[in-house]
Amino acid sequence: MIKPHGAESLLPLYVADEAERKALAISAENLPSIIVSSAAAANAVMLGGGYFTPLTGYMNLADSLSVAEKLYTTDGLFWPVPVLNLVKDAANVKAGSQIALRDPNVKGNPVLAVMDVENIETASAEQIDTMIQQIFGTMDGDHPGVAAFKAQGNTLLSGPIKVLNFSYFETDFPDTFRTAVQIREEIANLGWNKAVAFQTRNPMHRAHEELCRMAMEDLGADGCLVHMLLGKLKPGDIPADVRDAAIRKMVEVYFPPNSMLVTGYGFDMLYAGPREAVLHAVFRQNCGCTHLIVGRDHAGVGDYYGAFDAQTIFDDKVPEGALEIEIYNADHTAYSKKLNKVIMMRDAPDHDKEDFVLLSGTKVREMLGKGIAPPPEFSRPEVAQILMDYYQSTQS
Ligand code: ADX
Repeated sequence: MIKPHGAESLLPLYVADEAERKALAISAENLPSIIVSSAAAANAVMLGGGYFTPLTGYMNLADSLSVAEKLYTTDGLFWPVPVLNLVKDAANVKAGSQIALRDPNVKGNPVLAVMDVENIETASAEQIDTMIQQIFGTMDGDHPGVAAFKAQGNTLLSGPIKVLNFSYFETDFPDTFRTAVQIREEIANLGWNKAVAFQTRNPMHRAHEELCRMAMEDLGADGCLVHMLLGKLKPGDIPADVRDAAIRKMVEVYFPPNSMLVTGYGFDMLYAGPREAVLHAVFRQNCGCTHLIVGRDHAGVGDYYGAFDAQTIFDDKVPEGALEIEIYNADHTAYSKKLNKVIMMRDAPDHDKEDFVLLSGTKVREMLGKGIAPPPEFSRPEVAQILMDYYQSTQS
């Protein structure tokens, strides 16, 4: 099986031994504590589940800047996005002490993880700007990822952590949330040698469905990991539970059993386009996938990135051998009225735009809100029904 990134085996920071975990949870109640940002909590969940192997905790300032600027830690580990615990106020925290990290997303703010604070460092405004510019490719405060980053504060708490639970993901998505450890095991149990990962934060329409099918066929893959983001999204994105239901229905009706593994991970969307695509590749390798599908405007938002920047970054910024997982580059995919099937545009040079069924996200939302199903060439009727029910429930 493909090796995890930078390690022989996964390094989940979740305390798996129950007695040890319970003892740590009890002692954590007596530690000084802070309520972390949602982004820092999501980092803890990813570290806990082995997704961020081989990291052992939150990065210090030197590593964060090095990762932001060069995609390498100061020790030479390839890593595309700083893994941070940024806070506004660390007056009660001492370097060298142990603290409890409390969950901002669960009622009562229970302890999510215990941290050995190695360093407390204040990033200058210039250093924060450098990180933002490098990660997101923009400083625009209207970018949802930039806004979330800026809202966290500029003091970095760095050091190793031990994770006590998986926040709200385990309880809210018991059938879908899985750790990298669990996914690796599942892929091994299924006997998949070639597994292609499909990242998504949206329900799967015909184009998404066919992308998975085409990738599996082209690569001769044994199966596809549909791996959806379960964390925070920008307003207007479809909530994870609705998307989960729509994806499960589509897979159940239109794919053979045991060819698609529908799962999710607990992370907030960064909307960082190319950089997020590289992070996606790192943690899908950790899940045991050999390939990741990267299509049009992967992890993008608005007009901040070129449609295929998330593909070219793998040629421009990811050195040969830095990752073992390979990228399956997909062109813009849509239903061809001439050929009566979903295709990639690069495969039909004779086609004009009018030869495809193309609908903007805004148009689709408008239709669903009015209870009008998009055409079956765009969306499976079963998927459209779930989405129409959701949109109409938000209006009543
Ligand atoms: S993402 O933010 O999670 O990337 P989304 O769920 O919309 O957003 O996309 C999932 C994957 O499908 C990404 O790799 C994206 O590039 C790809 N994709 C979505 N729609 C298309 C399309 N029409 N043509 C080609 N690729 C697409």
